[in-house]
Amino acid sequence: MFKKSDIIEKGYIDEIIEPGTDLVYEIEKMRKEKNAIILAHYYQTADIQDIADYVGDSLDLSRTAADAKADIILFAGVNFMAETAKILSPGSKVLLPDLNASCSLSETCPPEDFKKFVSANAERTVITYINSSAEIKALSDIICTSTNAYKIVESLPKEEKIIFAPDRNLGNFISNKVSRDMIIWQGACHVHEEFSIEGIIELKRREQDAGIIVHPECEQPVRMVADFIGSTGDLLRYIKKDGGKKYIVGTETGIIHQMKKARPEKIFIPAPVKNKSLKCSECNFMKLITMEKIYLTLKYEEPELKMDKDLMKKAEKPIRRMLEISDRLGI
Ligand code: 13P
Ligand code: SF4
Repeated sequence: MFKKSDIIEKGYIDEIIEPGTDLVYEIEKMRKEKNAIILAHYYQTADIQDIADYVGDSLDLSRTAADAKADIILFAGVNFMAETAKILSPGSKVLLPDLNASCSLSETCPPEDFKKFVSANAERTVITYINSSAEIKALSDIICTSTNAYKIVESLPKEEKIIFAPDRNLGNFISNKVSRDMIIWQGACHVHEEFSIEGIIELKRREQDAGIIVHPECEQPVRMVADFIGSTGDLLRYIKKDGGKKYIVGTETGIIHQMKKARPEKIFIPAPVKNKSLKCSECNFMKLITMEKIYLTLKYEEPELKMDKDLMKKAEKPIRRMLEISDRLGI
């Protein structure tokens, strides 16, 4: 039986589920009874994507959370996504099936260090990637996602000096495209830095007709050989429109489920990784969420994401600014 101490100790509810329980049926039933919605990121496993009310990239998910009319938002994703949902939809109970679902970008940007960095560069506008904690967002002027980062930077007056945080790869990708005074926080995503340029080149030699599509969180050598670079949502839109038949995909493998659903006739090959003992690059944080945890979380309405109200208010301002700019620019 579920004990509150489980969550405190483990971050999730640990209970043996009755053998033979039809998780899909039970989740569906509770979702209706409790007026709950399930939001899932593209990096979730296929079974979770298939039961979600909405599957999307970080920008889509924050917009959906902002418009949600549900009593409960169950977030199948990572901590910063659930925090953003809570900030934009404070009246809803936000549930995260495993509170340990962090993100290496949030972890490589500790608030105390970032605060010093921002104070030392007080004349600069702080543009922060949504993959960051609420504390970091509260120290920022505008939030961005990988879908809108370039346009948000470009929407600022040319002379405005910028701090870009926390992803050094997305920061470099943008700073190479624009002529701006940008200083970049040196955070990184361990999943996207795991792709091997040598492995990708070797694979491309064997699969000459394959296009290379990668996320901007990848390192520069990987981005340099890519035919297309974009957020998860952009990559999905690209393969739907593009005439190619085969792709080497340089992002977390969860997205391949949606790619195959959209274009079943095409072939999607996960980009090779540096660590030879790994088959592909998976986000261990995203994969902490399971169907079993979703079932138990909906059943007990725990673990609930609780946030400090002042912090929520401070973090909301730069997120709203991102949504306003994106709406104005038609992103
Ligand atoms: P997007 O879904 O915005 O492309 O973000 C990718 C990511 O790493 C989310 O954690
Ligand atoms: Fe964070 Fe990288 Fe996982 Fe995305 S894939 S949640 S950026 S660790």
